[in-house]
Amino acid sequence: MAKKAKFQAPTGMHDILPPDQKYFRKVFDVVQEVATFYGFRRIETPILEETELFSRGIGLSTDIVQKEIFSFRTRGGDYLSLRPEGTAPTARAFIEKGMQNLPQPVKLWHFGPFFRYEKPQLGRFRQFWQFGLEALGEKNSVIDAQVIQISYNILRELKLKNLLIEINSIGDSQCRPYYKKLLMNYLRSRESALCRDCRRRLRINPLRILDCKQEKCQRIISQAPQTIDHLCDECRQHFKEVLEFLDEVELPYLLNPHLVRGLDYYTRTVFEIVEDSPEGRALGTLVGGGRYDNLVKLLGGKDTPAMGGAGGIERIISAMKKKQVRFLVPKRSKIFLAQIGKLAKRKGLKLFEEFRKAKIPIGESFGRDSLKAQLARADKLGANHALILGQKEALEGSIIIRDMKTGKQKTVKLEKVVTEIRKQLKKK
Ligand code: HAM
Repeated sequence: MAKKAKFQAPTGMHDILPPDQKYFRKVFDVVQEVATFYGFRRIETPILEETELFSRGIGLSTDIVQKEIFSFRTRGGDYLSLRPEGTAPTARAFIEKGMQNLPQPVKLWHFGPFFRYEKPQLGRFRQFWQFGLEALGEKNSVIDAQVIQISYNILRELKLKNLLIEINSIGDSQCRPYYKKLLMNYLRSRESALCRDCRRRLRINPLRILDCKQEKCQRIISQAPQTIDHLCDECRQHFKEVLEFLDEVELPYLLNPHLVRGLDYYTRTVFEIVEDSPEGRALGTLVGGGRYDNLVKLLGGKDTPAMGGAGGIERIISAMKKKQVRFLVPKRSKIFLAQIGKLAKRKGLKLFEEFRKAKIPIGESFGRDSLKAQLARADKLGANHALILGQKEALEGSIIIRDMKTGKQKTVKLEKVVTEIRKQLKKK
């Protein structure tokens, strides 16, 4: 086989390079802080799960399972898939680890990479990161509002503005079959005017037609019967309460009767949060979720009502960058260690460890020999002080502290330098 000239990351998958790490860190910190405040505890599930967990949990007829899942057979003959989302794995862990026996609701959050074989485009990748919130074992409508509120608060904490919550109720196993029939009748009579994808959906998943973005389908959809007009009494009451809670906490929502979402496990409330601007909409939904009252049972657990949502980290970061959101990054080293000569390098290596133990951040450039080059590096890093260990100092057991701004220098004993620097830092 011919040798490959150049390797590239797989299509739709990206390295997270050092300049982007601060954004990931910031989003992680905010999610952790807000979720913890609301009593959510962290869970991380494996990147791989049995393929059937997703075909059963998300639904055989969904785009995710039909077209987007990365599946393979292991050497041992198991069928596994890279997780395309985090709700089914969380429900699996909830059942497997006996969390039904804990005080309910069990509130969990997660943060990690997910995989979908999609056509890469703006805001759409094959490996992407999500944060997720899952509250299992609570049927009260207040948790629906709370998950929406937490998702919204996370985005607000990240300084995103013009956020809009779109919300709908898609009913439950009592009222949805009847609605589906009505919708089918309506759509069948207009089948020839639908796009190719929707003609396929008509047979396998007619509800999904409601959020088709094709113009010709949009015209048909605008006249279609709406779920909220055909909810059973319980679903109507539940939805009314959710909206009342959202009013109470003054969240800006818009009732979108065509919002259905792309996963089969949803019942009743569904929601999405977008940035309400042309650029924001082009980026896609930032957070999406809803209630999934049947999922745990469907996967073999007890009847467990649940509600959750997940946000796309790359999309959130893109929105932050567009808004030029600024945030404080933990301060980097303000001290730099320069050395000249072999002995100084050896002693410098040891001294560096002392700074680490003292938890004082310090920069170095041990690979360089020229003092000029090292001081230039110190300057670039924004160091206030450079510690210079020359041949003479290394022999004498001393070190020079140089104030990078004024150029003033003083010599101190090597064993005193950590204490001396600590004093200097306290003065600032
Ligand atoms: P989802 O709407 O499929 O829901 O994904 C949630 C969010 O993940 C999206 O709103 C988007 O920001 C991001 N996302 C999805 N696919 C991609 C992609 N290919 N590239 C970049 N970002 C993407 C779920 O995954 C549900 N598990 C949410 C949930 C939790 N429902 C209840 N609990």
